[in-house]
Amino acid sequence: MGFVFFPRSIVHYVLLLFMFQCPQGSSASRNIAMEQQVALDDHQRIRAEHEDDKGMHPNHINIILHNLQQHDNLSPHLQVHPSPLMDHMDPSLNVFFTLNDLKLGKVMPIYFSNKNFSTSPRLLTSEESNSIPFSLSQLPYLLQFFSFSKDSPQAKAMEYTLKQCAQEPIKGETKFCATSLESMLDFTQDVFGLDTQLKALTTTLLIKPTVLLQNYTILDVPKEIFAPKMIACHTMPYPYSVFYCHGQETENRLFEISLGGDNGERVVAAAVCHMDTSQWDRDHVSFRILNIEPGTSPVCHFFPTDNLVWVPLLDHV
Ligand SMILES: *[C@@H]1O[C@H](CO)[C@@H](O)[C@H](O)[C@H]1NC(C)=O
Ligand SMILES: *[C@@H]1O[C@H](CO)[C@@H](O)[C@H](O)[C@H]1NC(C)=O
Repeated sequence: MGFVFFPRSIVHYVLLLFMFQCPQGSSASRNIAMEQQVALDDHQRIRAEHEDDKGMHPNHINIILHNLQQHDNLSPHLQVHPSPLMDHMDPSLNVFFTLNDLKLGKVMPIYFSNKNFSTSPRLLTSEESNSIPFSLSQLPYLLQFFSFSKDSPQAKAMEYTLKQCAQEPIKGETKFCATSLESMLDFTQDVFGLDTQLKALTTTLLIKPTVLLQNYTILDVPKEIFAPKMIACHTMPYPYSVFYCHGQETENRLFEISLGGDNGERVVAAAVCHMDTSQWDRDHVSFRILNIEPGTSPVCHFFPTDNLVWVPLLDHV
């Protein structure tokens, strides 16, 4: 479930390990989560597929679009649509809950996507990612580089990601987009301080669900991970792995929750509760789903399997 990073030299060692393991789709690389998906303007999800693990061949990247929506609903500031119509609720929105739901034996419908990580966009090394510009002003060049026409859904997705990444953080927020695992670790270490050992939490499907939306039962008393600070990294739609990482100053509570599905599925899920939602957009989809008003109740959500949540490693955890 969690894995732990020790001082920097070891970080880089572990990093290399992950990179070598990635093409084989080991559980470690699954934790690192190379798949990218985020809701687009047209509610499409994009998934880039790389055909060659040995080198960067952008022209061979195929992008497959799916009519699913998930990730940018998880952040109050990473939103495309203020208010999707709820009469055709997207099943992937079944990730929100309230603090009161966090009880042993509680049953609730949850959506966990069961992804095939071998078709995920590629995680680049920092050398590779540094050789490709990552800015909105370079979009025409990038579209040519990746062979996408400017009206294609892929072009929209890239524009969306570059825009989200270029946006200034709001007050009290730390954010960055990482285009390689190394840059993600560097940014994260900068936020927490170089001397802080870090731990990454993920949602792990121990026994994979075949039905993506189903009822799950909380099997153990939810375990709270004490974290004075956290940085959550969400994957973004792009031809290679891009993580949108952010942290807020407002109080958050992080949990590790053991879940059992109706057909023997087992999930160890990472979830966060945002304790203060008073500043959120009142059209945020979670308020409609939970039927609450901003600021009246914490909003919690499960993390998808391809997200990473970084927290300091504390002795008493
Ligand atoms: C994942 O996708 C690859 C390539 O499309 C395919 O060969 C493989 O069988 C898939 N694995 C699973 C578990 O579906
Ligand atoms: C979950 O269980 C409830 C009560 O049995 C049922 O009404 C609902 O349809 C179930 N939801 C899913 C997604 O299976």
